[in-house]
Amino acid sequence: MKTDQTVIVTGGAGFIGSNFIHTFIDADLGVVVNIDKLTYAGNLGNLDALADNPRHIFVKGDICDSALIASLLNRHQPVAVVNFAAESHVDRSIIDPDAFVQTNVVGTFNLLNQTYHHWCGLPHERQIAFRFLQVSTDEVYGSLGPDDDAFCETAPYAPNSPYSASKAAADHLVRAYHKTYGLPTVITNCSNNYGPFQFPEKLIPLVIHNALKGKSIPVYGDGLNVRDWLYVADHCQAIIKVLETATPGDAYNIGGNNQKTNLDVVKKICAILDGINPRADGRPYADQISFVNDRPGHDRRYAIDASKIRDSLDWEPTNDFETGLRKTIQWYLDNQGWVENVTSGAYQNWIETNYGMRS
Ligand code: NAD
Ligand code: TYD
Repeated sequence: MKTDQTVIVTGGAGFIGSNFIHTFIDADLGVVVNIDKLTYAGNLGNLDALADNPRHIFVKGDICDSALIASLLNRHQPVAVVNFAAESHVDRSIIDPDAFVQTNVVGTFNLLNQTYHHWCGLPHERQIAFRFLQVSTDEVYGSLGPDDDAFCETAPYAPNSPYSASKAAADHLVRAYHKTYGLPTVITNCSNNYGPFQFPEKLIPLVIHNALKGKSIPVYGDGLNVRDWLYVADHCQAIIKVLETATPGDAYNIGGNNQKTNLDVVKKICAILDGINPRADGRPYADQISFVNDRPGHDRRYAIDASKIRDSLDWEPTNDFETGLRKTIQWYLDNQGWVENVTSGAYQNWIETNYGMRS
């Protein structure tokens, strides 16, 4: 990408979006206009390091707001729109699915539609260079059995939660805007991410947080559900590769080639903490593990076949799980102020709602 180009990023105050903006600006790839509604999951503190950087322009706004999106496209003339904005937590989608349909389906539709109308008015060369990149998830493919092949891009969509169903609906709309109207779209379907700035409602930061606070570490069901973990910086590099070199209309699966049971992940976090930040009483953190009632419709296993992006775009993850997890745990230890900030207030209500019904 040229350094003087502008990209519109949505949801850039969330976990992956903020990591992406740091990666993009550190690599001097251009200017980012970041549109974020600042829900409970959005935190401008994730972007503190860019507070005085003219290459990051923050706009508090909703992707459902047609007039706002149209005016920002017109004003900033981006070369790409990268859509991270979403409601992203499966457990919240089970308790309150409405916001998931609004943001993930209606919001993506609105962003897509406004982008399409803007794109129609561009000169031909700019139309060809333009990209709408939809950041999606492996959860759209549903659940694998223990011996099933990993998901490839041609696997059928079979979402099982309101979250994954809303992301699947959005992906179908993105695909349709390419097939019907020729908008140069690309979809990325990524596995579970972990790393700095992840809100501590998701497994890895929740376990680190509860362990350090001396609270019980909740494992759903038998703890043998499998996820394919990817360090967030590797996901961000993959998105940049896709933006720069992917074929319009294509989809790319992104994964860490790193399948682990939840119980293995939790025990690994406990073991690392035992080594670098031992409990005052000398007992292992694993003593805090507690099995709780399972999530309804809980997908048993996800696994990504990332051979397409590896072979066609030359992308591979550079952080193995041990390295990525150690970096992540150290980041949470070093950033307790950030954790205190995001876990005050409404976070406590969520913890009571979600874990109250599991005990
Ligand atoms: P997140 O919940 O941490 O952040 C979402 C961001 O979107 C927040 O900053 C929030 O304020 C913003 N937002 C929500 N509704 C909005 C709206 N209507 N308009 C504008 N902004 C809005 O999520 P994340 O984990 O960073 O995920 C980012 C994207 O990546 C999502 O689309 C998610 O589906 C996808 N994804 C996530 C993972 C993962 O493991 N976290 C894996 C694969 C794909
Ligand atoms: P999560 O981080 O919510 O991601 P996703 O559901 O999108 O994969 O959960 C990862 C796995 O960890 C999932 O199988 C559910 C499980 N889990 C627990 O066992 N305990 C918890 O407290 C949480 C939040 C998740």
